[in-house]
Amino acid sequence: MDTSADSADRAGRAAGFFLVFEGGDGAGKSSQIPELAAWFTALGRDVLTTREPGGTQIGENIRPLILEHGQGEVDPRTEALLYAAARAAHVEQRILPHLRTGGVVVCDRFVDSSVAYQSAGRELSAEDVLSVNAFATQGLVPDLTVLLDISPEEGRARRTASRGGEDRIESESDDFHARPRTAFLALAEAAPERYLVIDATLSRPEIQRLIRERVCSMLGLPPEAGVQL
Ligand SMILES: Nc1ncnc2c1ncn2[C@@H]1O[C@H](COP(=O)(O)OP(=O)(O)O)[C@@H](O)[C@H]1O
Ligand SMILES: [Mg+2]
Repeated sequence: MDTSADSADRAGRAAGFFLVFEGGDGAGKSSQIPELAAWFTALGRDVLTTREPGGTQIGENIRPLILEHGQGEVDPRTEALLYAAARAAHVEQRILPHLRTGGVVVCDRFVDSSVAYQSAGRELSAEDVLSVNAFATQGLVPDLTVLLDISPEEGRARRTASRGGEDRIESESDDFHARPRTAFLALAEAAPERYLVIDATLSRPEIQRLIRERVCSMLGLPPEAGVQL
């Protein structure tokens, strides 16, 4: 397969493709990722699907410190640094090695979630959150970020219907969740070539089709490749 359209080297990596899903809780990220990964595999790509916070042993150990109730006070700086620490391990141990071998990485959340939740949500300065994350990621930027845009109300309705319980971040108010939504949209608007914004209330197959269409165009694949599988 021709990978010449894959991104330029940004953090010492070669011809991999780094795709991130972002969007509010309940937007449908976890619903889309397995099918997209299977499609990349059918196209002959070596795919790593992973999530944040997590993806490494230390990251999965940090995850409950951030998400579970009952950790005592988790002030905004501590929260931001825990996310960044998990991300540093994830980038160094999993994401960069996979990209360096030419693989595709599909990741559920990345730096934008920290900008959206720890900066816009918790009201830390965006500058601080970005600088901590630049250190954590070694400057790695996704080739494509799929933003599934959902209202706080719809997101909450979906997750209470499907899971019945909410983690520490999810259980914040709708007013809290409105701020990350605005922040995600602003990030996408600032760099449209690196984002695909999709209305998360579209049907699952339609969302999958739109993502594949964009990936085909970025990787120089014929549009018919999008319907394979
Ligand atoms: N396009 C969609 N339309 C309607 N419901 C959806 C759609 N995508 C996902 N869902 C449902 O919404 C809920 C949350 O989806 P999920 O993929 O877990 O979201 P996320 O990973 O973004 O939090 C699940 O019950 C899922 O079945
Ligand atoms: Mg999910």
